[in-house]
Amino acid sequence: MKDKNIILIFIVTFMMILYSYYLNCITADNFVSTKVECDVSLSGSLLSEKIYGEISSYNVLVDSSDYTESEYDITIYNQESFSLYNWTIELSVPEDAYIENCWNAQYEKMGTHLRLTPVLENSVIYKNNSHTIGIIMVTEDDYTPEEIKFIGFKYIDPIDTVSFIIITIAAVIWAALLIRYFVTRYNLKEYHEKQLNDEKIILQSMNTFINFIDAKDAYTRGHSRRVAMYAAEIASRMKMSAEEVQAVYYCGLLHDAGKISIPDAILNKPGALTDEERMTIQSHTVNGGKILEKFNSIKGIRESAMYHHERYDGTGYPEGLKGDAIPIYARIIGVADAYDAMSSNRVYRRHLNKDEIIEQMQSGSGTQFDPNIVKYMIDMINDGFVNIVKMETADEATDLDIKASMFAKI
Ligand SMILES: [Fe+2]
Repeated sequence: MKDKNIILIFIVTFMMILYSYYLNCITADNFVSTKVECDVSLSGSLLSEKIYGEISSYNVLVDSSDYTESEYDITIYNQESFSLYNWTIELSVPEDAYIENCWNAQYEKMGTHLRLTPVLENSVIYKNNSHTIGIIMVTEDDYTPEEIKFIGFKYIDPIDTVSFIIITIAAVIWAALLIRYFVTRYNLKEYHEKQLNDEKIILQSMNTFINFIDAKDAYTRGHSRRVAMYAAEIASRMKMSAEEVQAVYYCGLLHDAGKISIPDAILNKPGALTDEERMTIQSHTVNGGKILEKFNSIKGIRESAMYHHERYDGTGYPEGLKGDAIPIYARIIGVADAYDAMSSNRVYRRHLNKDEIIEQMQSGSGTQFDPNIVKYMIDMINDGFVNIVKMETADEATDLDIKASMFAKI
């Protein structure tokens, strides 16, 4: 998956988590409307002693000290799992009762009805917390409060909800995946850099070896590089995988490795070759196979050196293999090698022109060349790819960079 899409997924999931948290807050706020209303009977209590009452889980303490000038302390203990919001206390009092003082609350007296509203920040008593309010009330008659009514509303903190725990877990997983993504991306970048460096080392080593081979014959200078690039392009057009295209390129580079063992005098002989000299030159295939025998880290490299002069009809050398018995890399390199030979000057002749080459390629289809491969080479001649390769490989110094950029694309 592309990096852009992954980043987009992270942003979308982050927005979803934020939106879930927002919904969770709204849901929690809705619980504020849940009303809590309880009565507690205090009958039989004396004003001179502390009176304890309990409203559900809310404990109420009434502390009084005087018959005619009564002082009440009422403490609300919240032992529930939610906070209390906007609560009031209501109690019956004598008609003539006069409220002399009131603390931590506002009062409202209507006849025998007294309402106390605590003065609290946001009118909230948080869970496991308490709040005390009090009044001094003057009456002419003895008075003992018989009942207190408690009215409040539930207030649920969004962070205490189950959904918040789920959202938190999702956020933690999201953050872990994000970190893992960036760590993987960093490691991958380092891996690619190392891979590119390794590739450069392989190419430089091969090019050094190729320079030895090509130096033996001034007329074939750049031949191995061009054959490698033609062969890689054929493999690419045959829809081979990137790894195979790369392997074909390396095989093309070293296909003539065996020429290192051929005397320069025979390689550069301008006149006709004797049978013995021809056999010596042809032995570069078997010699190449031997040189590359242990080079098994690149698939097909030994076979390509060994069999690139086999012909499709079985009349080639060194073993006279026929058709699909010839390894496919060797068949591809055979076509690329033949094209480069036809399009380059040789010690014994000048290069052929485009029409002559196409004609020879077509006449060799099914005899010298695999017909399913040579057609791609003809396409490359017709669409000008081969000219681009010639221009690029003309400057040997940039050859490595061109190749590196070519592999970066495949
Ligand atoms: Fe060859």
